[in-house]
Amino acid sequence: MGVTRASACAKAILLGEHAVVYGQPAIAVPIVSRRAEALVCDAAPGSAGAIVASDLGVRYPRGRSYVDDHGQFLWAAAEGALRACLGEGPWPALEIVVRSTIPIASGMGSGAAVSAAIARGIAAHFCVSLSRERLSELVYATECLLHGTPSGIDNTVVAFESAVWFRRGQGAQPLALGAPLALVMGDTGIPSRTRESVALVRRRWQAQPAPLEALFEAIGATVCQARAALAAGDLPALGRLLDRNQELLQELGVSDPALERLIAAARRAGALGAKLSGGGMGGCMVALATPAGADGVLRALREAGAADVILARLEQSGGAVV
Ligand code: PMV
Repeated sequence: MGVTRASACAKAILLGEHAVVYGQPAIAVPIVSRRAEALVCDAAPGSAGAIVASDLGVRYPRGRSYVDDHGQFLWAAAEGALRACLGEGPWPALEIVVRSTIPIASGMGSGAAVSAAIARGIAAHFCVSLSRERLSELVYATECLLHGTPSGIDNTVVAFESAVWFRRGQGAQPLALGAPLALVMGDTGIPSRTRESVALVRRRWQAQPAPLEALFEAIGATVCQARAALAAGDLPALGRLLDRNQELLQELGVSDPALERLIAAARRAGALGAKLSGGGMGGCMVALATPAGADGVLRALREAGAADVILARLEQSGGAVV
């Protein structure tokens, strides 16, 4: 049998990170130009199979137990997909190669995309059709290994590959977009410590519930206003809401000087608004540019020392925003 290929996209949280863990809404978008890819084929006769993380240059043979987070995570993703597709084992031995153009630990959902690509690859290899809902559940289960208590937003955007309005426990709704969006992302190059930033917010919330809940609600209100601005195609209003969301994230304590340097550079270059995206404390920021101003913002982020820059243009296509 030949090689089956499958891929899954990156994601960016436009507004609402952290507060989404506490039941507030958030908006996230797919970044389709950056993807994780899985190549699946039958293992050589006599081999138990392996997953090769080609970007890390590491091969994880099946049947070992890994203290290394990556090996444990990759095999959890593959076994979850095998169980969903073929029922309880024993399963045929597979050789799976994974590679990705999504910066790792940057707040862009690289783990969710790798896990979705593996699940899609395994399903395609065995000619099993996995619904997007089922794929999202499988990715959520592996996200729990990485993040502890994920809100569910990453797996949802990556599985559906369209922009979503997301509220924990209620799932996702499609978003309406009144005008195309030009988003420019800059990676600080500092690994974002989502697990740590989520834990920091939790400790602060446990110590001082009332002020933290007020902050979560203020973030939620910003997200609601942003949904209306997106639907109306009111880009200046949306930009101001990104800036407001960043102020609230600073108050939460999850921003940092490297993110703030890139955010300031984007605003100076004419971005309509900018904020960190994802867990924060390193990782990526996102700026909303005018359609004509995106290249200038991209250049400014490069000059300000961004380790990686990404331009994503999103538009309404039928019922979805991609
Ligand atoms: O850093 P990322 O891309 O995994 O985003 C985390 C988003 C949080 O809201 C901070 C956590 C979550 O589970 O939603």
